[in-house]
Amino acid sequence: MFDIHYHLLFGLDDGPENLDASLQLAEASIAEGVTHIVCTPHANERHKFDPEVNRERLKMLTDRLGDRITLGLGCDFHLSYENIEDLKTNRAKYTINGKRYLLVEFPDFGIPAAMTDIFFRLVATETIPIITHPERNPTLVADPRRMVDWVQGGCLVQVTGASLTGRFGKRAETTSHFLLKNNWVHFIASDAHSIDHRPPTMAPAYDILLARYGSETADRLCIHNPRAAFFGEAIPPQPEPIGFGDEPNPSHRGFFSRLFGR
Ligand SMILES: [Fe+2]
Repeated sequence: MFDIHYHLLFGLDDGPENLDASLQLAEASIAEGVTHIVCTPHANERHKFDPEVNRERLKMLTDRLGDRITLGLGCDFHLSYENIEDLKTNRAKYTINGKRYLLVEFPDFGIPAAMTDIFFRLVATETIPIITHPERNPTLVADPRRMVDWVQGGCLVQVTGASLTGRFGKRAETTSHFLLKNNWVHFIASDAHSIDHRPPTMAPAYDILLARYGSETADRLCIHNPRAAFFGEAIPPQPEPIGFGDEPNPSHRGFFSRLFGR
């Protein structure tokens, strides 16, 4: 499996504090069948993002892990004005392995009004935004239809593995499954931070996908699509999203019925 969202590098953000803690996480991922990890430190107002330091930390890990797992570099890209400006001239600093896919993290509260324009401009410059864990964002949980234009415009969606296991509560779990059922999801990733509190979860998430949606979906979300992102290739053809064209009818239907027109 390929895990494309992962706070594996130590001493940089709210991920592991030291080399041993990083190695523990990597060992847990190897044990659950992950072959490739993209190390994605935060780039936000709290955590400085320095590619040079990231590369040094990555090398310290690969020196210890050898060829038992392949590590790449990316960024948990916060949509701040400064980051977006820097991205215009330094795209490869932030994208997965310096190629075309970019993990984007929304603020916890509120989504900038210019979001759709920002996404369209990224797509126009052949940068493919991957919207991270919408099922954990209060604004998108309350109104997932805000994603319709973005996904139709070329954005992709990543759901966190632990949302499927219930770690982030019932709303995140329920939202994840509605997104999955309607083919709005392209990636599962662990967003792992620590072995005790936010451990890797690709294996349990894969098992849930397999049981509920079958092997084609589980492989597509945990292997084929993230592999394409890792190597900067086009993702394979995806099943048609359901519910994009339906108008909500708030008067006499439930929330997800309104959302997906059922
Ligand atoms: Fe993250």
